[in-house]
Amino acid sequence: MPAVQSITEEILDLKRQRRAMILAHHYQDSEIQELADSIGDSLELARAAQKFDGDVIAFCGVVFMAETAKVLNPARTVVLPDLDAGCSLVDSCPAEQIRAFRERHPDHVIVSYINTSVEVKAESDILCTSRNAVKIVNSIPRGKPILFLPDINLGNYIKQQTGRENMKIWQGACIVHATFAARKLTSARAEHPNALIAAHPECPPDVLSMADFIGSTSAIIDWCVTSDAQEFIVMTESGVSHSLKLRAPEKRFHFVPNENCNCSECPYMRRNTLEKLRDALANLAPRIELPQELIQRARLPIERMLAVK
Ligand code: 13P
Ligand code: SF4
Repeated sequence: MPAVQSITEEILDLKRQRRAMILAHHYQDSEIQELADSIGDSLELARAAQKFDGDVIAFCGVVFMAETAKVLNPARTVVLPDLDAGCSLVDSCPAEQIRAFRERHPDHVIVSYINTSVEVKAESDILCTSRNAVKIVNSIPRGKPILFLPDINLGNYIKQQTGRENMKIWQGACIVHATFAARKLTSARAEHPNALIAAHPECPPDVLSMADFIGSTSAIIDWCVTSDAQEFIVMTESGVSHSLKLRAPEKRFHFVPNENCNCSECPYMRRNTLEKLRDALANLAPRIELPQELIQRARLPIERMLAVK
């Protein structure tokens, strides 16, 4: 009787047959991260997609990330295991409202967080991620007014870090990070008095004010791994525990549940599963398909961001 292949073997076989690369964001289930060629934050995954020279990118993340990979690889097939893997920040910011803003305020530089639809990217002057947002805003002449979109907490944090007064901020929020409550962090700190606190800048200001370190998902992981401290409270999606446990098995990490699900998982990110990844590689679907004209317009602000060192 032929041996039954495990789903992991099936995925690895399909990956070879398809000349595919599996990219996984830190918020994916561990079993997906284990199979990935590259795990990273949204900036690292955009850079990995830019360097790829195979045929198929299997993007284990959310739609806006897979769209970015498609814009950077228009001739390649980009599949996403579940097309319903959206993002509340994307939903907060429709492209027609950005076009209307542009008409009313033609002097503003539009700086868009990567957590936006490809249509919004196409209306933007430059993109940023949580990792490079301070650098991107600082690269814009100080006299130029800015619209920063769509995350209110990241926007306020960047405004404070850059001392930039002429910056309007959109009112979008991440349903995971914006619902971390300072009172729960206060209880966690009382329970773990030796722990340092690391937070993603999408968290509310009262949570950020308690943090010892603020940064992107990968920056949080690097900081916890290289710190002399042994214990941390980590204010981001708990998928980062995969890399934290691998890279610092002797350290202790605590996650604080948010107000939405009493967990710290992103319901969009967690729509992807091993079964859906296998099917996406087998069927080359669901696929990200974008009109050429949209790809061309969205590419410029992405490339401007990638050029900022
Ligand atoms: P990173 O840029 O830190 O990967 O964050 C992406 C994201 O969706 C945060 O919620
Ligand atoms: Fe969007 Fe928040 Fe999920 Fe990140 S964690 S994908 S910002 S909803």
